[in-house]
Amino acid sequence: MDSLLIEGGRPLNGVVQISGAKNAVLPIMAATLLTRERCVIRNVPDLEDVRTMAQILRTMGAAVQQGEGTLAMQAASVSDKADYELVRKMRGSICVLGPLLGRLRRATVSIPGGCVIGMRPIDLHLKGMRALGAKVQMQSGYVRVRGAKLAGAPIFLGGRAGPTVLGTANVIMAAVLAEGQTTIENAACEPEVADLARFLNAMGAKVSGAGGPTVTVIGVKELHGAEHEIIPDRIEAATYAIAGVATRGVVTLAGARLDHLAAVVDKLREMGVKVESHAGGITFQRGRSLRPVDITTQPFPGFPTDMQAQMLALLTLVPGISIITERIFEARFTHAAELVRLGADVAIEGPSAIVKGGSPLSGAQVMASDLRASAALVIAGLVAKGITQVNRIYHLDRGYERMDDKLRSLGARVKREPGS
Ligand code: EPZ
Repeated sequence: MDSLLIEGGRPLNGVVQISGAKNAVLPIMAATLLTRERCVIRNVPDLEDVRTMAQILRTMGAAVQQGEGTLAMQAASVSDKADYELVRKMRGSICVLGPLLGRLRRATVSIPGGCVIGMRPIDLHLKGMRALGAKVQMQSGYVRVRGAKLAGAPIFLGGRAGPTVLGTANVIMAAVLAEGQTTIENAACEPEVADLARFLNAMGAKVSGAGGPTVTVIGVKELHGAEHEIIPDRIEAATYAIAGVATRGVVTLAGARLDHLAAVVDKLREMGVKVESHAGGITFQRGRSLRPVDITTQPFPGFPTDMQAQMLALLTLVPGISIITERIFEARFTHAAELVRLGADVAIEGPSAIVKGGSPLSGAQVMASDLRASAALVIAGLVAKGITQVNRIYHLDRGYERMDDKLRSLGARVKREPGS
């Protein structure tokens, strides 16, 4: 497994081009199963998760050609099964459930396991399928949904932690070919859901209100092929912004959308970071000294859980006490112990991390555990004195396009070490 060797202490300066959003492209790839016609998707990031999803769709019978930043996809015929071996590689593949039910009226999908950040249940996905008239059975690790007739219905999709992003995506994708109107209340408002709806409407669906808490779908008979450009990745963007601030550099995000970054920009400004949006992008510059802040992760438009680890890494550098409370996932602090190995002072109290910021970080070997925790360790390594070796960086490759190249282009001294 590859590692990343980072020589800390160098400021990041310059412009970084933000890639297409991982969490938009994955459900949109699944949505191409809803038509037998050809679809072309552009601004596709070059990520492990995209390659995995392409592999899953190929095993289900879809034709998938990957070009430079593009995907040409056609599911002329498709099987109703997504098997364990593939689904376990990437939980996000659960988003084939909705399109399979919509197109074939049946699906057998392996129940995605949990992961380091939590249980990752799918009860709300299944509540939505049942509401549309499908029969749902759990059998030997698979969920089987059957719905000869799918009829639109009112569905409340709020769960113990609020809305569900992929649950909302799955229910929309099952409803677009159901008979009649579906109204989803407490739908996830993430921009990636709105991007999926734009693609579905380009295919001839009738989805309105996506990106807001109430989404309405009027079922149609069939969908046709379409072309689509993926929105920029707001989490990648915020990650580089925080890396620039942490290393006392000036970083400009080219291609990022300020309206997708409101909560992160708000917190960085509260800390004393200057944020300016201009024709060339969005520039982040640290002020003279940074102030500690308190953060609670929330569903969009609140502070994103996918930025919690990266912000925690930054706050370890800010003198004073900061508190980060994780309200979306039950176990998303695996990065804290690794940050402590680099010299940070972090204590976990239930759903909160209490950070006594300001102690200097020094390089060490650390272990990546999930995608965003890995990014947090890279940010800390860019600041820590000496060399930090981040092991198991396949986690990073799942969701960050060529992160080592992008960091080097900003002046970082990073080297990818092939794994033993
Ligand atoms: C999506 O996961 C993202 N992944 C995650 O990004 C992101 O952290 C998450 O949304 C929250 O924003 C993709 O889009 C591929 P959820 P998803 O269903 O949809 C509970 C990353 O780093 N819940 O919105 O699987 C669940 O336990 C990844 O890019 C239920 O209770 O997350 C969690 O507490 C990590 N029942 C909360 O809802 C359900 O049926 C939010 O989960 C479904 C979810």
